[in-house]
Amino acid sequence: MEDRHSAKQTCGGGVLFAIMFIVGLAGALVAGWWGFPQLLYSQNSQPIRFSHKVHAEAGGMECKQCHTYAASGQYVGLPSTEACGECHADETGGKSDSDKEIDKLVKTYVQPNKPIPWLTYQFQPDNVFFSHSAHTGFECVSCHPDVAKMDNPPVYYQDRLSTYSKQTMRMPGCERCHAELGVNNACYVCHK
Ligand code: HEC
Ligand code: HEC
Ligand code: HEC
Ligand code: HEC
Ligand code: HEC
Repeated sequence: MEDRHSAKQTCGGGVLFAIMFIVGLAGALVAGWWGFPQLLYSQNSQPIRFSHKVHAEAGGMECKQCHTYAASGQYVGLPSTEACGECHADETGGKSDSDKEIDKLVKTYVQPNKPIPWLTYQFQPDNVFFSHSAHTGFECVSCHPDVAKMDNPPVYYQDRLSTYSKQTMRMPGCERCHAELGVNNACYVCHK
């Protein structure tokens, strides 16, 4: 017993140092990979768990029923509370998760007629100009995720410093398509 104990102590320092170094390194990497984005971005979810998939399938609805272009060509954006109320005017009283979510919508927003504070993943910083009207020739999925197949809205990540969404299309994404199609890529085209 004595021998083994002292033998361990002689080489123990080096091994212990190596173990502590590896543990420390792993810890730093975890902190960097996992912790840093946590510090940088706050996570949020939509006020109502709206399912595009359910409305495309069960509801048989087209995109333009909820996302319509205004005369200016600027995207009107998201549907009003009244638009949801056309189909969800009354509580279901049901017990399933879907029914509970509908009841929350009806009680919190439709009946008191309050706007639903939807979060917009794509919102660009104020100094960027973008209009859907110049881009009507493209599929929605060239710039947005394929929401029609989604049962849940994605988690929303907001940059704590700039307050902008992490999920916006980045400048190189805009410029790549413009360059391919010979659209002017001068700074003033997109920055006002
Ligand atoms: C019943 C109304 C309704 C229909 C129909 C609908 N949407 Fe939506 N859409 C919403 C609502 C509400 C939101 C906000 C909540 C969310 O992001 O899921 C939204 C959000 C989005 C967003 C996210 C925009 C952003 O950056 O935040 C995209 C993209 C989108 N819809 C595309 C589509 C497409 C493509 C279709 C057709 C396949 C469609 N929508 C059909 C109501 C609708
Ligand atoms: C060329 C890229 C592009 C295409 C194609 C595109 N979008 Fe967008 N979309 C954007 C950008 C960029 C924004 C953010 C605009 C802003 O910051 O004001 C946005 C914003 C939105 C929003 C948020 C609400 C609003 O009014 O800004 C919805 C909803 C949306 N898009 C739906 C659609 C749908 C539906 C289609 C297909 C019919 C589509 N988009 C096609 C780039 C695109
Ligand atoms: C044209 C009719 C129609 C409109 C408009 C409509 N819905 Fe629905 N909605 C449906 C149908 C159909 C279902 C599926 C059957 C059910 O669960 O009652 C559904 C289901 C839902 C559910 C439960 C789905 C699930 O399983 O997650 C929610 C939440 C919901 N709708 C929210 C909304 C919101 C928010 C709006 C407005 C942006 C809206 N709906 C607009 C027809 C509609
Ligand atoms: C899939 C290809 C594609 C992507 C991605 C794209 N664009 Fe465009 N954009 C075009 C085309 C094509 C035109 C020229 C349309 C025309 O002249 O009618 C254009 C024109 C424009 C214009 C000038 C017309 C106007 O509305 O004043 C602006 C500004 C613009 N884009 C901004 C953006 C921004 C910002 C992004 C990224 C968030 C972006 N675009 C992403 C294809 C694209
Ligand atoms: C086709 C559209 C487009 C053009 C052309 C364009 N930008 Fe941008 N730019 C964007 C968009 C969209 C953003 C916001 C998203 C992001 O940060 O990538 C942005 C963001 C930026 C930012 C902030 C970057 C950051 O990370 O916060 C700077 C600085 C910038 N642009 C400078 C320029 C300069 C300089 C030019 C000309 C050489 C230029 N841009 C041309 C679309 C464009």
